[in-house]
Amino acid sequence: MQSNRISGQIFSDTITDSDLTVTNENPTIANRNEFRNSRVLIIGLGQLGLPVAKYVKEKGFDTYGYDIEQKAIERAEKVASIKRADSFSDFDVYIICVSTHKPDDIFAPQIDGLLYIIEEISRKAKNGALVSIESTIPRGTSKKVFEMLNHRLHVVHAPHRWYALEEMEHGVNQLRVVGGVHDCCLRAALKFYTGDVSNSSYNNNADADVSVDNISQRESIRGGNDGSNNSNNSNENGNLGIPLHPVSDIEIAEITKIAENAHRYLQIAFAEDLYLYCKTNNLSFPQLREAINTKWNVNILEPRDGIGGHCLPKDTRMFLQSSKSIKSKILTAALEVDQDYRRQRQSRVELEVLCKDIVK
Ligand SMILES: NC(=O)c1ccc[n+]([C@@H]2O[C@H](COP(=O)([O-])OP(=O)(O)OC[C@H]3O[C@@H](n4cnc5c(N)ncnc54)[C@H](O)[C@@H]3O)[C@@H](O)[C@H]2O)c1
Repeated sequence: MQSNRISGQIFSDTITDSDLTVTNENPTIANRNEFRNSRVLIIGLGQLGLPVAKYVKEKGFDTYGYDIEQKAIERAEKVASIKRADSFSDFDVYIICVSTHKPDDIFAPQIDGLLYIIEEISRKAKNGALVSIESTIPRGTSKKVFEMLNHRLHVVHAPHRWYALEEMEHGVNQLRVVGGVHDCCLRAALKFYTGDVSNSSYNNNADADVSVDNISQRESIRGGNDGSNNSNNSNENGNLGIPLHPVSDIEIAEITKIAENAHRYLQIAFAEDLYLYCKTNNLSFPQLREAINTKWNVNILEPRDGIGGHCLPKDTRMFLQSSKSIKSKILTAALEVDQDYRRQRQSRVELEVLCKDIVK
């Protein structure tokens, strides 16, 4: 019996009842030659899910969509000819793109909707299908999902770096980090996203070495195209052509996404802090910023309206909550700075309105 060490746990390729059900010996996608005829269901057809569904369809997959909002399904049918899914049965791949914030507070993380979807998948999906969570999720979610699926399906997390304002450069198929709950999960994902499982340890050989060390030393794996965001409307390679950077511990993939956004949050918060400093000390912020940014390794951002969108504030909170004990002091302070900045900005706007009224 061969054992593979992943995420600090010993998994066995020969399965007992108490062990993993998804194995290298299952009739899984990981053991097929390609994904060419696969049925793919995208769940959550919002800002992110719609372009994902469009991309998957353009790559030639049999593409279906589902959303709790009827309007989202209708839009996907209309703008991208995505087929409406009547049930969660009989799909080869489930791509999860649902929102992960509270319905009444876009800054507050919540995964209830995602877990509800997983319950549905658990009831309907066939053994060995691939579940790829592309939504941003808190640490530990992927393993919880794997448990909920009774270890019957492959579970991976391939968080997005999609950016609405620069969709051509930073769209669906830019380089992404990916982690699998188990090594066969990761192999299934590599096959679906990149088509590359010949790459050193990620092949179908049950004897392959999929140790943590091997993964951490590996370079990113390129997809089947040139890495640009132009889909070539073909499925010749039977994969999505999305380059991946595999990590050996799925929690690294989970934290990567929220730490990336926490880092961005911090950069903007520093600009806000500097702005408030200038206000208090009677200095011109634009002049100071321009002067500082003449240095080669400094880029002070513009603070604008406060740190908005639904991703940066939510993901930064997700990161803060992800620590078991000590919370990041610097990020806690950054949240306060943003609140101070917003208050300052709000009173400035109110003052401007008042001045205009007086002039009238
Ligand atoms: N939009 C981005 O730029 C971006 C970038 C990277 C990551 N993300 C992440 O992707 C995820 C989705 O973001 P988005 O911007 O597309 O959000 P969105 O609000 O635009 O879309 C989410 C969609 O999910 C649907 N939905 C919610 N709960 C559902 C459920 N239980 N079943 C079926 N459908 C459900 C909603 O109706 C909505 O259409 C989030 O986790 C977000 O953090 C977004």
